[in-house]
Amino acid sequence: MADIFEHIKIAPHFGNTHPDGYTVYAGPLSDSWAKWHGSRQYSGIVIICDENTASCCLPIFLTKTGIDAFSLIVTKSGEQNKNLQSCQQIWTEMLNICADRKSLCINLGGGVVGDMGGFCAATFKRGFDFVQVPTTLLAQVDASVGGKLGIDFETLKNGVGVFQNPEAVFIDTVFLRTLPERELRSAYAEMFKHALIGSEQEWATMCHWVPAVDAQLLSRITASLRIKKVYFDKDPFERNVRKSLNLGHTIGHAVESHFLEMGQPILHGEAIAAGLVCELYLSVIDCGLPSEILEKSIQALKGVFSPLPISEGMFINLLNLMQQDKKNENGQINFTLLEKPGKPKINRTVDSALIISSLKFYIKNYAN
Ligand SMILES: NC(=O)c1ccc[n+]([C@@H]2O[C@H](COP(=O)([O-])OP(=O)(O)OC[C@H]3O[C@@H](n4cnc5c(N)ncnc54)[C@H](O)[C@@H]3O)[C@@H](O)[C@H]2O)c1
Ligand SMILES: [Zn+2]
Repeated sequence: MADIFEHIKIAPHFGNTHPDGYTVYAGPLSDSWAKWHGSRQYSGIVIICDENTASCCLPIFLTKTGIDAFSLIVTKSGEQNKNLQSCQQIWTEMLNICADRKSLCINLGGGVVGDMGGFCAATFKRGFDFVQVPTTLLAQVDASVGGKLGIDFETLKNGVGVFQNPEAVFIDTVFLRTLPERELRSAYAEMFKHALIGSEQEWATMCHWVPAVDAQLLSRITASLRIKKVYFDKDPFERNVRKSLNLGHTIGHAVESHFLEMGQPILHGEAIAAGLVCELYLSVIDCGLPSEILEKSIQALKGVFSPLPISEGMFINLLNLMQQDKKNENGQINFTLLEKPGKPKINRTVDSALIISSLKFYIKNYAN
């Protein structure tokens, strides 16, 4: 299935979006843009890119959409720039180009541009229309659905933000051709997680797919998105079942923060892959997940992610970091675990000794 064209309808959920929700268009951008833009009238178009997407993606975007009149805002790339200073730059430029409530903002970039550009559009003059054009695999499968917008603040990742849906999302794999291989691979962890909480069939398919810009990519993306959508639709504000999407993230976040503290940052997906291995191990013990699922998952993840240099000397700090996780309630470390593919169990607590065992399991069975 090379060029499938799929529409995924997302319900409205948040107050100030269209009553009939919005559509994620997956397939060739030229078709989907024409279909969506149709008779819509905007007073002006603002495109937000980062330094890399301005050079790699903007020319393709303009060719495919035929847009020729627009204002461009280019932000510095990277998570370290997903902050108030960049928002100030964006809002100032919006003011200078006279963006108003009838303008359209197009966020052309990865999750950083999507989260921050969406946040700026949702708040400037109390909000104007925006669309997301995700250009990384992670942003296509994860950030494009869920309505979370925002920036990092002080030490809090995603510490300031809002829930707000875009007018539409346009997913075209053409943008992924310039994405660094490491970024492409990193997204596999979230896709694998979606498959694990999706169904046995999805999980089995993902076990046999290695991320690449290939004929299967678009159908893998839409399969992944559909799973996220199921959990999002049931619980948009993450009060209960949406927490299923946190599988792999309690230990994964601690691992990510630890390497950042050590001055050796790793990509989010690389940390989540390790978190998934540890948390599937916990799932075998706590929820009766068949050990065969754990073993086959390890094989699949090994095909994509090299082992991380996790050692016993890090355990105390990793546990401390888990204690600080914002998902915790009543001082207990909160996990989402798995009973079987398609059947996650939220709000599980596990004692420290078992968490340490899961890290030892990773070292013994993944890192060797
Ligand atoms: N809103 C949500 O639900 C949600 C979900 C997951 C992640 N996120 C957020 O997304 C961010 C991570 O997203 P990301 O991984 O896309 O990171 P990113 O936006 O920083 O992109 C990664 C790198 O790839 C570059 N890039 C982007 N597209 C490119 C392309 N097509 N060709 C070449 N280079 C390209 C970027 O400039 C950047 O250097 C985090 O801030 C995270 O919090 C949000
Ligand atoms: Zn994640």
